[in-house]
Parts: sequence; C-alpha cells; structure tokens
Amino acid sequence: MSIHKLSVEDQKTYDSIFMQNREWADDKKKHDRSFFKEHFKEQNPHFLYIGCSDSRVPIGDLTGMDIGDIFVHRNIANLVSLEDDNIMAVLQYGVDVLQIKNIVVSGHHGCGGVIAANSGKNYGKMDGWLDKIRAVRLKHAKELDGISNKEEENDLLAEYNVIAQCEQLMQIDFIRKSYEENGYPKVHAWVYDMRTGLLHDMEFDVDSYLEQAKTAK
Ligand code: CO
Repeated sequence: MSIHKLSVEDQKTYDSIFMQNREWADDKKKHDRSFFKEHFKEQNPHFLYIGCSDSRVPIGDLTGMDIGDIFVHRNIANLVSLEDDNIMAVLQYGVDVLQIKNIVVSGHHGCGGVIAANSGKNYGKMDGWLDKIRAVRLKHAKELDGISNKEEENDLLAEYNVIAQCEQLMQIDFIRKSYEENGYPKVHAWVYDMRTGLLHDMEFDVDSYLEQAKTAK
C-alpha cells in the first residue's frame, strides 16, 4: 500500500508492482536458491549501457539480459555530456572500478528528446540539455535539411546523435587512455527501432574516428 492517496487506476498499478515483484523474486529463488545472495556479493557486468530514459526501451527485457549483466545510465536522448557529473561518475566507476570492457550508447527511433530538439520550439529548462542535440543537428544540417519527411529526418538525427555521443566518450581522458593502452573499453553504437522492436548495431569505428580526430588537429 502507498502512503499517498492514489487514483483507483494508479493504486491498482502500484499494488501490482509489489505483487509482481514478489512473484519475480520467488521465481528466481525457485530456480536458484542462492540467486540473490550470490548477486549481493559483487557485480561483474559485461556492458555499460547509456540509453534514453524512454519507458518504451526496457534494455534488460529487450536483450534478455538478467540482473548483474548491464550497468545502466539513462537520460533524455542518451547524451554523453562532459559537464554532467552524473554520467562522469557512472563512466569512471564502470571503467576504472568495475573494469567493464564494453560501453554501449543506444539511441532509438521516435526519440522524444530528438524530436523536441528538432522542432524549432523552446522548452524552458530542458533547452540547455536539448542544445546538445541541436549541436549534432547543426553538424549534419545539409543532409538533414534535404529530407522532406520529418519522421525520417528525426530518425536520422537520432542515429547521428548516437555516433556523436560515442565520439564524446572517446574525448574523456580515462576512457581514451585505457583504450589506447589496453584496447578497451570498446565503444558500440546501437539504435533501437521501436516500430519493429529490433536493435541495430551501427558499427561505430573507434579507430578511424581517433585517426580522423588526430589529423583534424
Ligand atoms: Co528517447
């Protein structure tokens, strides 16, 4: 029971959360009695995932990954902002302490953050965040301006945004240093298509990006 007075519908959802949680925990223990005890001791996730906060992109469910498998950071439009203490802490803990070897940046088609940034409208307190997507748009303005279908344009911007965030990751000193010295963490760019439920690997090529970044200096 919630201590708040909820609407009938919200109360039903609220109660079902606790009921289904109990069923989930019971089910896990039925298959492996020490499941939670073992996981409590430590975590060794295979992936550090940076994804969008969107409720329609449940990364564990859509990949079949279980608890302990993915270290997660989510924000609006899956941005890697170098001024964001939150993501910096997640990244440093994930890479330095947990020694995670793979980082995934995953965007998705139909992303509300991307759509808002590309709408020409202002969004008050959100604009500082959305400006980071607008900067990506500016970089690809020529190609994006040439697309007449707005939905297609937004989807392509979401894809360019993922690549831009992967490039941002490689600008972070401890990630860049670790990659150059040890060959990891490896950075992957994914896009999730909400129309089909399928994930696509955009095959971000870290080495050619670093090569390009060097010659551009
Ligand atoms: Co989104």
